[in-house]
Amino acid sequence: MEQNKLIAELENLKENFDATIKYALRDARRQEKIMVRSDQRQRREYDELQAKLEEIQALNAEIEESQKEVLFTMGAIGESRSRETFNHVRRVAEYSKLIALKLGVKPSTAELLKMASPMHDIGKVGIPDDILKKPGKLTHDEFEIMKSHAVLGYEMLNVSSRPLLKAAAIVAHEHHEKFDGTGYPRGLKGKDIHVFGRITAIADVFDALGSDRCYKQAWNDEAIFDLIRKNSGTHFDPEIVDIFFTYLPSFMRIRDTFRDF
Ligand SMILES: [Fe+2]
Ligand SMILES: [Fe+2]
Repeated sequence: MEQNKLIAELENLKENFDATIKYALRDARRQEKIMVRSDQRQRREYDELQAKLEEIQALNAEIEESQKEVLFTMGAIGESRSRETFNHVRRVAEYSKLIALKLGVKPSTAELLKMASPMHDIGKVGIPDDILKKPGKLTHDEFEIMKSHAVLGYEMLNVSSRPLLKAAAIVAHEHHEKFDGTGYPRGLKGKDIHVFGRITAIADVFDALGSDRCYKQAWNDEAIFDLIRKNSGTHFDPEIVDIFFTYLPSFMRIRDTFRDF
């Protein structure tokens, strides 16, 4: 009798155990299905996000490229008013970036300067042709008008808080300042001149002297190097002049790559 009771209890236990296992199994399977489904959903969402991100990156690259092109073109317009070549702004851009990097400027800032420096003479769009294209020396009054291209350019570009336009505005404003304070438009001195201004000043002069302009023939290299050396500390930042001569072969390579035809 006792034995029968034990068997009945064991059978009962087994039933309960089976039922529990059955429910646990069903729950686990249900759980698994939910996980698989949510995994799939998450993966789909991740893929969609990834695709959107790639699209945004492509759009951004596109915008950056167009910005660069617009800046180069605008710069070239400014230069072409005084019969300078498109390659002049490209060379100035490359020289400026190289100097900035050698000065220890952050690579992203050097790249910003490269994109901004072609705009240095954009203010020339506001200077009358008879002054811009005058062969020979300008009178005092004509030169005063010519000088206003720095402020004109600054005013044209200083309309946005975008870093690129801000940098371009600084370059336009300060590329004719001189290290000893005798430049224009503000007569800034030494390191009061923004590093972008100090860099573009030498890049622009180095390139302009080596090209024919309406008022002069291209200088030979020795004469150019002489002028840069003589103007170290007066027109140009001596530290930048040192960089120029230390890395002269790199500057010549840039001039060669983007030479005028
Ligand atoms: Fe200029
Ligand atoms: Fe220039």
